[in-house]
This record gives sequence, C-alpha cells and structure tokens, in this order.
Amino acid sequence: MKLRRLVTPCALLLTALLLPGCGHSQVPLPSLATVPGDANVSSARGEYIVRTVGVCGGCHGADEKNPDGPLSGGHAFRDWRLGVARGSNLTSDTETGLGNWSEAEIVRALRNGQRKDGRLLAPVMPYQWLHEMSDADAFSVARYLKSLPPVRNAVRQDPNFVFKLGKLFFLAPRPGTTAAGPPSGATAAYGGYLAQHVAFCGECHTPRTGLRAEPDKSRLFAGMTKPPKDFPAKPPNLTPDPDTGIGAWSEADFLKAIHTGVTPDAETMNPFMPWHQLQRMSDDDLRAIYRYLRSLPPIRNEVSPPPSKK
Ligand code: HEC
Ligand code: HEC
Repeated sequence: MKLRRLVTPCALLLTALLLPGCGHSQVPLPSLATVPGDANVSSARGEYIVRTVGVCGGCHGADEKNPDGPLSGGHAFRDWRLGVARGSNLTSDTETGLGNWSEAEIVRALRNGQRKDGRLLAPVMPYQWLHEMSDADAFSVARYLKSLPPVRNAVRQDPNFVFKLGKLFFLAPRPGTTAAGPPSGATAAYGGYLAQHVAFCGECHTPRTGLRAEPDKSRLFAGMTKPPKDFPAKPPNLTPDPDTGIGAWSEADFLKAIHTGVTPDAETMNPFMPWHQLQRMSDDDLRAIYRYLRSLPPIRNEVSPPPSKK
C-alpha cells in the first residue's frame, strides 16, 4: 500500500527533526560559594520571602484559600498550551516533596525552571520573574523549604501534547544566575527588585501577550484587562498614570491599602490580591515598592473597576 511506503520516510524525517531538540542540557547548579558570607542566608529570611512577600502558598498551598497553611501542593492550573500543571509539594517529604533535593537544586528550579531530574517546569511556576533573585535570597528560600515538616502528598503533572512538543523544539530552562541584588532599603532600586523578582506583583499586574502569554515587559505594571479565567478579579494598573493607575495615591495611601486591604476609594480588595500576607511586609520594603512604582513611566490603561464597584 502507498500509505505503508510513506511510513519509513516519515519516521526518518521525524527523527531528524526531533533529535536536535531532544534532551536540553542541564543548567549548571549554582553554588553558595558565590554568596558573600553564609550570614546572608537564613531560614528566617526564606520564611519572610515564601510566606509574606512571594506568597508561594497561593499556588503551592494544600488549600489555595489559605496560603499560610502547609505547602503540600495539588492546586491545578489548566491551560491549552500546557495541559494540567499542579502546584508541587514543597515540603521535605522524601518521596513526594523536596526531601531529596539539595538547596542548589531548589535554587535552580526557582530561577531557571529546571527540575532536579532535568525536566522543564511548566511556566505557571513564575521562574521568568524569579530568574533575577539574588543568591542570598534564593538559598534562604531553599533553606526554609528544607525545614518544612514533611507532608506526604503525591502531586501528578499532566502536560499535554502541545507542551511536550514545545519542550522538544522551543522551550528550554533559562540559563544564567544572579549573584547579588541591590542593597536593601527604602529605595526604588530595591523596590524594583522586590516587586519583580521576589514578590509576584509583576506577574499579576503586567499584561500578557503573544501565543505563550508571556508578560509584556514593555507595559510593566499596566494592569491586566484580560486576566486568565481563574482570576476572580482584574489586577489594576499600578503605574503612576493619575486616571487609570495609582498616580493619585500618596505613599501613605499605598501603605494603608496593603496594611488594611482597603484602597483610598474605600474598596476592600479581593484576597486573591494577597494583602492578608503582604500586610506583614516591613514598612521599608513597602515604601521601596511604592517608590519603584512611582519611577515607572505612566501608562494609560483602563482596567475595569472591581466587581463591587459595578
Ligand atoms: C502562579 C503559581 C505559582 C507560584 C506563585 C509559585 N509556584 Fe512554584 N510551581 C508552580 C507549579 C504549577 C509548579 C509545577 C510545574 C511543573 O511541574 O511542571 C511549580 C514548581 C515548583 C518547584 C519544583 C518542585 C518540583 O517538585 O518539581 C519549586 C521548587 C517551586 N515551585 C517553588 C516555589 C516557590 C519557593 C515559590 C514562591 C517564591 C513558588 N514556587 C511560587 C506554581 C507556582
Ligand atoms: C495573585 C495575583 C496578585 C499578586 C501576586 C499581587 N496582586 Fe495586587 N491585585 C491583584 C488583584 C486581582 C487586585 C484587584 C483586587 C480587587 O479588585 O478586589 C489587586 C489590587 C492591587 C492594588 C489596588 C489598586 C487599585 O487601583 O485599587 C494594589 C495597590 C496592588 N494590588 C499592589 C500589589 C503589590 C505591590 C503587589 C506585590 C507586592 C501585588 N499587588 C501582588 C492581584 C495581585
């Protein structure tokens, strides 16, 4: 049959196409030696990042409504490009969590998107933002995660054909590491570091673009008019545009909104905006973020008001 004669050339062609893309190389493991003094690395700093600033529990919590609870995972994210990606178990259970991972392997997962076994993590895990997290902060996060009591919970990942194909041809772990972040303090530079690379303000408040729904870095913090379906509210424009952004907010307004969850318009924010956790941030860190947001170019982008205003 004609069909059968076609099979062999097709198989050969496919192999030729697939082989070059197969098995991307491992990103080298980062080493703590690059950190100026182990003193900057602490489980307490890691806890502050994981629980208060980064709020990893919003995706990795056993109950996503309680990000402060155990980080044993299971919450499902569905996307036609990925299939089903589930927040993984970050506790120290050796079989189903990170018990057998080294700190360096955890740091590589955070910043490069590569699992211990070399597999690329679904980009739901925001490694494109964490890529610039400093060695000291990333190793602190790893140290804190290793200290979590083990919870046995096997989390299954179900990548679909589109994501598997993407991994063969287009997608690869992001190489490179960062040694140091800007010095901490109530400065715009440190605020930019926190807002983009430690907290996920940028991940939620920046519009996404293109086939891969990647953050549109040319419109950083301009808000999301079309958020993914599972967002219960639209993340507003945080640029200093006076009409559509937060240009009219004073520093005190900003701190009060994060501390109390109530905006200057007397709206209580949906807890999906993780203010219940962010309210524990230090005033200096919040001031730094405000000062950074003020330094952004104002972008006019009307994100519709929260449902309570309609
Ligand atoms: C927007 C949701 C989201 C946020 C926020 C998030 N993660 Fe993830 N993370 C995921 C998903 C989903 C996976 C699984 C991806 C996969 O296996 O393909 C993952 C995977 C991981 C892995 C790899 C573990 C494994 O077993 O493969 C680590 C480590 C990790 N995340 C740590 C963190 C830390 C620490 C934070 C906070 C600083 C964080 N994540 C924030 C969604 C998220
Ligand atoms: C998980 C997604 C998410 C993350 C992470 C997030 N936000 Fe939000 N944010 C939202 C959503 C959604 C709203 C709108 C809430 C509502 O309408 O009730 C919001 C509202 C706000 C508002 C109120 C703006 C207005 O005009 O009313 C401010 C200010 C804000 N976020 C700042 C931040 C900062 C600073 C960070 C990082 C430290 C951050 N957000 C992280 C989703 C997020």
